[in-house]
Amino acid sequence: MKNYKIALLKGDGIGPEIVTQAVKVLNRAAERFGFTISYDEALLGGSAIDATGVPLPPETIEKCKATDSTLLGAVGGPKWDSLPGNLRPEAGLLGIRGALGLFANLRPAKIFEQLREASPLKAEIIGDNLDIMVVRELTGGIYFGERGRRTVNGAEAAYDTEMYSVPEIERIARVGFRMAEKRDGRLCSVDKANVLESSRLWRATVARIGKEEYPDIKLSHMYVDNCAMQLVRNPKQFDVIVTSNIFGDILSDEASMISGSIGMLASASLSEGKSGLYEPIHGSAPDIAGTGLANPLATILSAAMMLRYSLEEPQAAQAIEDAVSEVLKTARTADISAEGIWQVTCEEMGDMVCGLL
Ligand code: NAD
Ligand code: IPM
Ligand code: MN
Repeated sequence: MKNYKIALLKGDGIGPEIVTQAVKVLNRAAERFGFTISYDEALLGGSAIDATGVPLPPETIEKCKATDSTLLGAVGGPKWDSLPGNLRPEAGLLGIRGALGLFANLRPAKIFEQLREASPLKAEIIGDNLDIMVVRELTGGIYFGERGRRTVNGAEAAYDTEMYSVPEIERIARVGFRMAEKRDGRLCSVDKANVLESSRLWRATVARIGKEEYPDIKLSHMYVDNCAMQLVRNPKQFDVIVTSNIFGDILSDEASMISGSIGMLASASLSEGKSGLYEPIHGSAPDIAGTGLANPLATILSAAMMLRYSLEEPQAAQAIEDAVSEVLKTARTADISAEGIWQVTCEEMGDMVCGLL
């Protein structure tokens, strides 16, 4: 029987609760589809700081490299907010993305029909089967550029640098084009080329790759401020969006509301190789940690993405996605609750998805 090795980074806040539910669902899927999974837990973020003094212990990188893929909850919380930048939990997350070379972050924002009324967008704006894929560059740009403090005209100042090289833009552009090829054939590259030099290089590079390598894909370019507006004015115009690290971070949170809650939005972070890191796009939600209110579906759907993209178990992935779709008819966590539908806890939601698998 095929056995997969998965590293688990539960993280902080609601991280352990949601990962526990996703593991339950993975185990049920393994049982049903005839494979096994062994897990190796490692520390990341605040929990790693508390145990070892650093947010990304070297052992965590080794464990992730030694497995077929990694499943992550979320990191961060008020307890660690006053630490210097390079020792914060979030630095651990950036560190693991960098160490594993995870330059391509796929964030699918799609509507589950049952959640139509949970979305703050009007039904006619959502339309039918709204399905947007945000392809976010994940190991470059302002997140990884030079930063620091200095004195300017006698006053304290701080700076962060946005920089992209042509190869970095080319490789993420190709991920966007290939994604569009598998979908509706439309790619929108989002930048701020009217102001930023890095965006002008981004736009020219994406345009050249499109012309030379993907002439059949309908490529458009949009400024990020307009894109933020268009996502709520007319989201149907988008198929695949490809954008930089910081713009992708912001636009994917915005796009998540199409689905009704940030607690629904999964993600896959991929390198050139097969293994990846899978995580919900939301954070550690310290405001609801330990209350049972967390929605585990984004993490469960991230586990499904892992089965599809890294483990070659597409049937198991599909079965999990179908079970999620089904469960929404009868049960909801608080963030997507609706009148007349049973409100359940994080753990109950995990059990119900397993029950439908
Ligand atoms: P957040 O995503 O944690 O929370 C924003 C809001 O959404 C909160 O009201 C929260 O309760 C709610 N929410 C988020 N996930 C939910 C879920 N699964 N179910 C129900 N409600 C959910 O963002 P924030 O409050 O800006 O950040 C909190 C901490 O998380 C910070 O330390 C931040 O740096 C960190 N963070 C981590 C990640 C990550 O690990 N990938 C992502 C974003 C933020
Ligand atoms: C995300 C988060 C992270 C990011 C933070 C916690 C470093 O917001 O995964 O979207 O900005 O990439
Ligand atoms: Mn984010």
